[in-house]
Amino acid sequence: MLETMKTDGNTKWFVKDRFGLFIHWGLYALPARHEWVMQQEEIMPDVYEKYFKHFDPDLYDPKVWAQAASGAGMKYFVITTKHHEGFCLWDSKLTDYKAPNTPYGKDLLTPMVEAFREQNMKVGFYHSLIDWHHPDFTIDDLHAQRNHPDRAKMNEKRDQKRYIEYLHGQVRELLTQFGKVDIMWFDFSYMPGTAGRPESWIGKGCKDWDSAGLYKMIRELMPEVILDDRLDLDGTWDIKTPEQFQPRQWVHFNGQPVVWEGCQTLSGSWGYHRDENTWKSVDQLVQMLIDTVSKGGNLLLNVGPTGRGEFDHRALNCLEGLGKWMKYNSRSIYGCTQAPAEFKAPEDCRLTYNPDTNRMYVHLFNWPCQHMYLDGFAGKVEYAQFLHDASEVKCKGLEEWQQDFVQDNDQGALSINLPVIKTNVTVPVIELFLK
Ligand code: GLC
Repeated sequence: MLETMKTDGNTKWFVKDRFGLFIHWGLYALPARHEWVMQQEEIMPDVYEKYFKHFDPDLYDPKVWAQAASGAGMKYFVITTKHHEGFCLWDSKLTDYKAPNTPYGKDLLTPMVEAFREQNMKVGFYHSLIDWHHPDFTIDDLHAQRNHPDRAKMNEKRDQKRYIEYLHGQVRELLTQFGKVDIMWFDFSYMPGTAGRPESWIGKGCKDWDSAGLYKMIRELMPEVILDDRLDLDGTWDIKTPEQFQPRQWVHFNGQPVVWEGCQTLSGSWGYHRDENTWKSVDQLVQMLIDTVSKGGNLLLNVGPTGRGEFDHRALNCLEGLGKWMKYNSRSIYGCTQAPAEFKAPEDCRLTYNPDTNRMYVHLFNWPCQHMYLDGFAGKVEYAQFLHDASEVKCKGLEEWQQDFVQDNDQGALSINLPVIKTNVTVPVIELFLK
């Protein structure tokens, strides 16, 4: 088994649970054209105010959300307490820019946390380091007002230190008013020279958030909370968070494998986007989850609820499809990780392995014709079955007549007999009980 880098936060449950729901919800659900709409269209705060004045999610019922997530097989959730636009979902004492002051008139976060806990799901808070609404957050090259003719003058009145106090104060609220928080997910730092940004870029990083101070406070308030890697300060994070792509292998840092979580959208936006149509199919999503676990990672899959407070029908379809597959196959996900190196995944397959039960799972992304060869498995399998219906799958060493057709290096292979016709499962899984 791969030994991962030590973490301060408690990642024991995390690497077993494997599958979580990301929720991006804020005022941007109203324009419904990306959660960065304020920045992309350079909407000034006084104009953006119209969304604050009209935010009224009258159909919001977090119990329905939590059931949908749990039904999909998700074990934890991460909600945007505040996104870059600066709007807060909870009744923060430190700002007026919050849900209770919209026409909706109530705190949105407390009932959400309760509803997900009722489904036995763990609780994570995404909190934006960036804030395009706060009057002390200095205008940088990413800011919605970056091209404002009076930028320099406006910045004279801004005091990033006061913003740091606000940021820390809000994190303190989040870690003291909602019971146990399992994950704190900060987003994000953008220093010059990083991620292809020019050296002349005016960005922000650990000094602008006082990441060291923030980290100290967090560990005092909530020693076990899992922290993501976007505070621009090594030694503070527990998980690496590749976004919107599938890594080729187990994610490493300084040559060492780490605990990691990929985050992905269902369509091309995190926030609700009415007209965006690149929705991933259920097949793709199931494969994405499997692929992630086969590389030792977690998947945090995102839904952007509407301005009326619902998951839209396309998102619900995706969650239902995932749930159908998970109902029969979650044993190949929970508690599973990358297979030990001696076992090679056959073409178009992914392997996951449960070290506690010593079972291996072969996921067939493409249905082969009757025979499949598993390299490195000869003599190691005690019993094999399909996971969805527990029907036996015959597996044996190569027949004598087959021996004539194989290369020397195939000798450790196990041959599996499959039905000609693909079983009616999105991704069929073979469960191998190892000796
Ligand atoms: C990005 C974006 C953002 C999203 C996040 C999720 O960094 O700023 O809108 O919340 O990724 O990982």
